[in-house]
Amino acid sequence: MILNKGKILEILTDVEGESEHNKLCEKITFLMQNLGSVKHDKLGILNITKNGDTVDINGEILFSYLDKIRSARTIDRSKYYIQRLIKYIAEEKTGKINDINLNRWKEYDDIITDSLWVLERRDNSGVHSAEYWGNFIPQIPNQLLRRYTKKNEWVLDPFAGSGTTLIEARRLQRNSVGIEINPQVADMALGKLQKDRTIFSENYCAEIIVGDSASLNIKNMLKKLGIDSVQFVIFHPPYWDIIKFSGNKNDLSNCETLDDFLKKFGYILDNSLSVLDSGRYFAIVIGDKYSRGEWIPLGFYVMQEVLKRRHILKSIIVKNFEDTRGKRNQKELWRYRALVGGFYVFKHEYILLFKKGNKG
Ligand SMILES: C[S@@+](CC[C@H](N)C(=O)[O-])C[C@H]1O[C@@H](n2cnc3c(N)ncnc32)[C@H](O)[C@@H]1O
Repeated sequence: MILNKGKILEILTDVEGESEHNKLCEKITFLMQNLGSVKHDKLGILNITKNGDTVDINGEILFSYLDKIRSARTIDRSKYYIQRLIKYIAEEKTGKINDINLNRWKEYDDIITDSLWVLERRDNSGVHSAEYWGNFIPQIPNQLLRRYTKKNEWVLDPFAGSGTTLIEARRLQRNSVGIEINPQVADMALGKLQKDRTIFSENYCAEIIVGDSASLNIKNMLKKLGIDSVQFVIFHPPYWDIIKFSGNKNDLSNCETLDDFLKKFGYILDNSLSVLDSGRYFAIVIGDKYSRGEWIPLGFYVMQEVLKRRHILKSIIVKNFEDTRGKRNQKELWRYRALVGGFYVFKHEYILLFKKGNKG
């Protein structure tokens, strides 16, 4: 609900000055009645004047505070809750890496803080779609960008694919730059970005560059965009050769051996992290693979590559994994194979979250 900020703060400060507990509680009850509807609002808290300063507040949370103030056993306790409510309304408390107002942390109930992500349905709004085989669902960059970047900051995606990160970044008023080795795929991403013209399109950069993230001079690329560094990097590499993305020999999906895949991933890691501000975060989205009767833990191998470089592991998130298009039609076959072969069918992938270390 939208309130007249000056008025509500004035009322709460007045109530806080009350010396008798029952009078304080009566005033809170009166305030609650006034909040019920504009018709009953004799205090003018819901009357928003044209130039008035307003505050947008979650009604449920406001009423739960007012209830606590009213039902506290002592006047000191009631005043303690009033002070907390005043803080909640008046002050903004944000950290260095995002815009989450910690004084209002209860309002961010859609931001995941558990390490198990069960995401039911892909966000297909706007130009987002599942059309590119191997893209990730937009909720992944959405969650990560809101947790690890502030508005107007810069995000790098060295495996940009169909541009999911870039589309999401621009919607969230972040700038982004993506690198994609396959020119046709980069074109597809560009097409989507051009179609997805929102009110923010004009003001936020979402640039897609065709190139090999291992050898491209990322510093120069950023310079051309007028910046020296980025504040978040999201890596979504091919899960080695599970899906062949192109015929290009530098495409990670064309690596002949696991060692080669990890070595090339390491080059991309170093090249990309050289432009990440120190103390900032990066994420790797990766799944494992099953081949010739053996589970190949690509996620753990890749994590090891990062840890070798002394970056700080902050979380291992396990995310549910919906069937790929290929496997969807073969669900029963895979179940049969699993029963025969003594293994489990993949239903998860990882989001590995790191903070750039001193030696990055
Ligand atoms: C798993 S997909 C990323 C999908 C992306 N997150 C999306 O939502 O569309 C990996 C992408 O990395 C690209 N790629 C592979 N090797 C690369 C390299 N060396 N440099 C840049 N891009 C590469 C592939 O062409 C593919 O589009």
